Amino acid sequence: MEKIVVRGGAPLSGSVTVSGMKNAALPILYACVLVGSKCTIENVPDVRDVRMSLDILAEMGAEINRIADETYEIDCTNFNPGISCSEKVKKLRASYYLMGAELGRFGKAKVAFPGGCNFGTRPIDQHIKGFETLGATVTTDCEFITMTTESGTVADDVYFDTITVGGTINIILAAVMAKGNTIIENAAREPHIVDLANFLNSCGARISGAGTDVIKIRGVKSLHGSTYAIIPDMIEAGTYMAAAAATGGCVRIENVIPKHLEAITGKLEDVNVIVEELDDAVIVTGKGLITSTRIKTRPYPGFPTDMHPQMSALLTIAHGTSIITEGVYETRFRYTEELRKMGADIEVKGHTAVISGVDKLHGAKVQAVDLRAGVAMVIAGLVAEGETKIYDIHLIERGYDDIVGKLRALGANIEKVVEEE
Ligand code: EPZ
Repeated sequence: MEKIVVRGGAPLSGSVTVSGMKNAALPILYACVLVGSKCTIENVPDVRDVRMSLDILAEMGAEINRIADETYEIDCTNFNPGISCSEKVKKLRASYYLMGAELGRFGKAKVAFPGGCNFGTRPIDQHIKGFETLGATVTTDCEFITMTTESGTVADDVYFDTITVGGTINIILAAVMAKGNTIIENAAREPHIVDLANFLNSCGARISGAGTDVIKIRGVKSLHGSTYAIIPDMIEAGTYMAAAAATGGCVRIENVIPKHLEAITGKLEDVNVIVEELDDAVIVTGKGLITSTRIKTRPYPGFPTDMHPQMSALLTIAHGTSIITEGVYETRFRYTEELRKMGADIEVKGHTAVISGVDKLHGAKVQAVDLRAGVAMVIAGLVAEGETKIYDIHLIERGYDDIVGKLRALGANIEKVVEEE
């Protein structure tokens, strides 16, 4: 069993380069199913969820060649939707993009329900509402969702009752080759939605309005291959920003799009951290004294829910009392129990965590209870007195490319250790 061992106290310094965005790479990889020829995807992060998705696509007939560290050729000419690799599909959330991709290309789909981080129920009712609006007959059992159409999807207006990133992505995938023009209203506005639309448009799709809450999709008959580079990962960037702030260090974070980081930058400046924006980098300087703040997570361009645990870790050592309200998920507070093991003073009341800053944290044995919770424990370990051992680190590796190597290069006293069972 592997664990991360981190010894706190070293201010981070130097520069780190952000990888491609996991949550943009995943929908784009599944979108290749829509394209009956070769696509070349660049700046693909080397993380578990990407490797698992490539395995799923390959098992279903995609021809995949890794032509460079972060570049893959993907040819779905011989993709076979009938082959279900449901055991793998159940291990991650993004596999549910197979639903929209198979429906969009073949007019039918049979996909196992997805897995993913445990934040409560995480229903897909809005996805199903959208598929049915586009003419699909949807049936579900305890394991699979099955969809059929008479002769492919038919364009229509789709209105989401709740803003959903995955739902927006799935309906884009199902509609790009539908007959007619589809309009998605109350769409998610995340940068990875824009990245997906840009990729599909580079393949001949006709999508406009991505990044706003109204997306228009003019159906086309087919898509052609293209070469496309994934945008940088704003959550990975934000994670290193929070780590630099927490350790009182000075870190240059390369390969970012500053606009995507606006909500994170704003909150860090709010707690007495200096953030200098350059064209494709930010320089974050912690002045040693972190002040308290209030955060409510919201869909983009609000403060991202995927930065909630990392900011909590930072605020455990702030001066004063901070409030974090989770505005996207039913719950996302399992990480607080792990931070309390390190001496944090956090009380959860409904959708809100009340964080009373303490002078210092102390090292402990803790678990990564989900992807972003795990990396929050790394941040806490970087500032704690003594040694912190973090278990279940495979959850961290789902979304972070070489986090131990990148932090070591910034001066952190951190290593990955194999522990005998
Ligand atoms: C994506 O999840 C991301 N995952 C999540 O990142 C991210 O937290 C989330 O978007 C929000 O930004 C991937 O991209 C693989 P949603 P997704 O559909 O698509 C409710 C990470 O750490 N909802 O926007 O599942 C749902 O319950 C992961 O990288 C419905 O009610 O998120 C949730 O409360 C964690 N009905 C809210 O909407 C639906 O049909 C947002 O979910 C769909 C969603």
